[in-house]
Amino acid sequence: MRMFIALEMSGSMRAALAGLQNRFRQAGICGRYSPEENVHLTLAFLGEVPDPDPVIEALSAVRFTPFILELYGFGAFRDCWWGGVQESVPLQAVARRIRQALDQADIFFDKKTFCPHITLLRKPVNAEGGPAVLPPAEVYPASMTVDRFVLFRSDPEKNGTIYTPLAVFKSERDE
Ligand code: 2AM
Repeated sequence: MRMFIALEMSGSMRAALAGLQNRFRQAGICGRYSPEENVHLTLAFLGEVPDPDPVIEALSAVRFTPFILELYGFGAFRDCWWGGVQESVPLQAVARRIRQALDQADIFFDKKTFCPHITLLRKPVNAEGGPAVLPPAEVYPASMTVDRFVLFRSDPEKNGTIYTPLAVFKSERDE
């Protein structure tokens, strides 16, 4: 099973992110747009995992208190266009704790530096099929309280990738 750990987006965050995608579409940008139900912020990518149980056990020990996540800006990296979030100490802390817990349990994950982003579009091209340039866009103000993170499995299907939550890990105050 292919797995990753991520934050689900609230309704208002999804709406603001969909607004950005609409702006890109209006500018004639084509490509693989993330369906609204799939938008998420990845905290750690595990790849193929034979058995989710040790992962769930390791993640159950991660403690954090709820914090606010605020949408901020957007950008492009290679063939990925993304929505950004405001720099945040508690966001970095929860990602670090998750990664430490995985490390301590000898569970493999992608060790690339955590760069919080929400993928909106992959392989963008302009209306002529040529290289796409990010259009100017306004980001609707949106924020959410993060009080949980989710272990997802990811299954490639004919019409896109299906993300299925396997386990939800709640913040301390919420338990
Ligand atoms: P991306 O959207 O920037 O590609 C599921 O694939 C999630 O895990 C996506 O959010 C993806 O980020 C992220 N991810 C992080 N590292 C990855 C990797 N090495 N391979 C595939 N997905 C990765």
